[in-house]
Amino acid sequence: MKNVLFIVGSLRKNAFNGQLANRLAAFLKDRANISFLDYSDVPFFSQDIEDPTPEAILRVRAQLQAADGIWIFTPEYNAAVPGALKNLLDWVSRPLVAGDFSSGTAVMGKKVTVSGAGGKNATQSVRAELVRLLKFMRMEVIAGEGTGIALDGAAFASDQLAISAESEKMLQNQADALLKAL
Ligand SMILES: Cc1cc2nc3c(=O)[nH]c(=O)nc-3n(C[C@H](O)[C@H](O)[C@H](O)COP(=O)(O)O)c2cc1C
Repeated sequence: MKNVLFIVGSLRKNAFNGQLANRLAAFLKDRANISFLDYSDVPFFSQDIEDPTPEAILRVRAQLQAADGIWIFTPEYNAAVPGALKNLLDWVSRPLVAGDFSSGTAVMGKKVTVSGAGGKNATQSVRAELVRLLKFMRMEVIAGEGTGIALDGAAFASDQLAISAESEKMLQNQADALLKAL
């Protein structure tokens, strides 16, 4: 089975996007090895601390390099990428050997797909921005801007993700497209 690494763009404990990722992990459990990237200890990026590479970055890079495919589940903050996720992406966009741009990155050429749960915009802005960013990092984006879930008042009130049958179908198609590409 292929290795698929899930990255949740929210650090919130009961994040809707974590709930969404858990649903997909359950859906894919017999078809792929799913793991989650823990990046909560990644420091704020600064070129001053790139060399020697911090432990947290070595670990994150190893997890990314072991992945055949990546699925990012993210909320939208102010119609853009949440800071913690952007910080992670900035780190992994940097060369494996500090200062040596011919050494490649942990993510170059990796297949990646994106989804997001958020307000009534269904994370459309962040997914578009993320796709542009991932392509800039020379990643291969599968299934375009992916699937967006618009949470309703009941979901926000209960902190429980609810997925319509239509969204569920889109997520399943997205999962199929990712696995097929690996
Ligand atoms: C700083 C901040 C900015 C936000 N901006 C947006 C936004 O632009 N669009 C949106 O749909 N939701 C926005 N939200 C609301 C999030 O959709 C909501 O907090 C959601 O629960 C975040 O996802 P999570 O549960 O996976 O953390 C924002 C929330 C925060 C904290």
